[in-house]
Amino acid sequence: MSSRSFILTFVASAAVVGILAVTAYSVSNASAGDVNAARVARGKYIVSAGGCHDCHTPLKLGANGPEPDFARSLMGHPEDIKITVAPPIAEGWMMAGAASGTAFAGPWGISFAANLTPDQNTGLGIWTEDMFMRAIREGKHMGVSRPILPPMPWPVFRNYNDEDLKSIYAYLRTIPAITNHVPEPVAPMLTENLAR
Ligand code: HEC
Repeated sequence: MSSRSFILTFVASAAVVGILAVTAYSVSNASAGDVNAARVARGKYIVSAGGCHDCHTPLKLGANGPEPDFARSLMGHPEDIKITVAPPIAEGWMMAGAASGTAFAGPWGISFAANLTPDQNTGLGIWTEDMFMRAIREGKHMGVSRPILPPMPWPVFRNYNDEDLKSIYAYLRTIPAITNHVPEPVAPMLTENLAR
């Protein structure tokens, strides 16, 4: 091979390698977007069939009785409904639920369903995917602090596989942010009327 044709061959193969690299880059980029879109769709499915709205979306009175108020989707216990006192709980019963469907009294005190929207200060805005997965897997507030109280069914939801939890998180990032400051839980000693 003459040195001239060697150089031509070299330049041609370098160009091919370059084209392959560019193609590989854009393919891997497209698939990252595809993965996220697939997760958002799956997360929406899990959230709607997996019961999250039951406790995290406040109820409103509809024609046929209480129904989820999807205008306030997943915003948790409404901040304007102040609850500090638990109702009397009859012998043999364990818990009581508020009319809003978002607050619960039991031996743990009073718990309020969290704001799952991406609002920066009152929702999951600052949460990372890792915090979300730890919270559900380990039952710790924000993945690291106090125990998450009943009736949040994290001991059941922890059985979702990684891909499912990542999907729930990805979907929750896409729903409308609602500013709603959910109250801190009330400790059992501070509630009145709880059956002991
Ligand atoms: C039976 C009622 C109930 C259901 C169903 C429910 N939650 Fe909850 N959830 C709660 C309550 C109550 C809290 C607040 C607990 C606390 O303050 O310790 C909570 C808190 C949370 C938190 C915040 C945890 C933290 O670190 O503070 C996340 C995240 C969450 N729920 C996600 C979900 C998702 C996702 C679903 C559906 C797959 C769901 N929940 C279904 C009642 C429920």
